[in-house]
Amino acid sequence: MTFLELKDLRIHFPSDDGLVRSVDGLSFRLERGKTLGIVGESGSGKSVTSLGILGLHKGGRAKISGEIWLDGEELVSASAEHVRTLRGKKMAMIFQDPLSAMHPFYTVGAQIVEAYRIHHDVSKKVARKHAIEMLDRVGIPQPDRRVDSYPHEFSGGMRQRAMIAMALSCDPELLIADEPTTALDVTVQAQILDLMRDLQRDFNAALIIITHDLGVVAELSDDILVMYAGKAIEYGTSEDIFERPEHPYTWGLLGSMPRLDRERTERLMPIKGSPPSLINVPPGCAFNPRCVYGDRTGGRSTTEVPELLESEGGHLVRCHLSRDERRTVWENEIKPNLEAS
Ligand SMILES: Nc1ncnc2c1ncn2[C@@H]1O[C@H](COP(=O)(O)OP(=O)(O)OP(=O)(O)O)[C@@H](O)[C@H]1O
Ligand code: SF4
Ligand SMILES: [Mg+2]
Repeated sequence: MTFLELKDLRIHFPSDDGLVRSVDGLSFRLERGKTLGIVGESGSGKSVTSLGILGLHKGGRAKISGEIWLDGEELVSASAEHVRTLRGKKMAMIFQDPLSAMHPFYTVGAQIVEAYRIHHDVSKKVARKHAIEMLDRVGIPQPDRRVDSYPHEFSGGMRQRAMIAMALSCDPELLIADEPTTALDVTVQAQILDLMRDLQRDFNAALIIITHDLGVVAELSDDILVMYAGKAIEYGTSEDIFERPEHPYTWGLLGSMPRLDRERTERLMPIKGSPPSLINVPPGCAFNPRCVYGDRTGGRSTTEVPELLESEGGHLVRCHLSRDERRTVWENEIKPNLEAS
């Protein structure tokens, strides 16, 4: 049985300007022990998707449809109360914004202790010891003292580590890490990624790593899902995405990847133009205003929404160009350029 499966998930927010289609028909599967990277520019719906899986839009303004199956249970139709009981042990999230995940009025230790004791029948003393261990594992100095600090007493980077300790404290079976490392220095980034790998190995956990930088997920992910304007536009194994990518947007992301052999801030070729409005999504392919290949599809790019179709062996692509055209462009135009730059 697939551990996590999304089927045609839609998360729309009514607003004064119209309906914001943040997630618009997203489907994917994830097995235990596997890592999925979700990649896309700012505003493509990555965080809204993760919050949706955790049930955190329930009771809000969001209109949610589709299905989220976690370990045999459907969560879109489940009660907010029930989904809450799954958070912590069954699934947990490392949030992009640590403050949103922590209560300002309780010490960091108290929050870890509380989360741990919901799922483990242990004394406060034992839970506190566990909290100190977790803080130590994420690299917080003097954890036996810092356990009694409040979130605001931590620096940004420390707060992020504390939140990671919180998320990992119950050994979740599904861990979603939303841009987990951007605010951290390189050494700590590596420590955190190691911790996540330990979790995966020790508990056969399923991981989702969310980022706008393909480089971050290159080594970690088994599969990669590229999102654009609330939809998957390409999905495949890490190898599919890096060795034989077929979507023009993915080519753009590869081209704009920071290179290890250069200054971290240097980007090769940023994708021209900006992400579309999610209220007035461009007709046809949402990427068409920025795509230089749209004129090769006989007008379909601006009139017809492309479907996400299988190219080969589970590699899915949402583009009107034929498979042969995409492969030819990749081999002859894009790949040599990337290699040369
Ligand atoms: N509660 C909300 N109400 C209305 N619109 C929302 C809400 N939450 C998110 N959105 C909109 O949904 C879109 C997708 O947001 P989301 O946070 O998922 O993007 P993201 O891919 O995580 O981007 P980033 O890389 O910047 O974190 C954005 O246009 C955002 O403004
Ligand atoms: S469908 Fe057209 S506009 Fe969209 S990515 Fe393919 S070629 Fe470009
Ligand atoms: Mg986000």
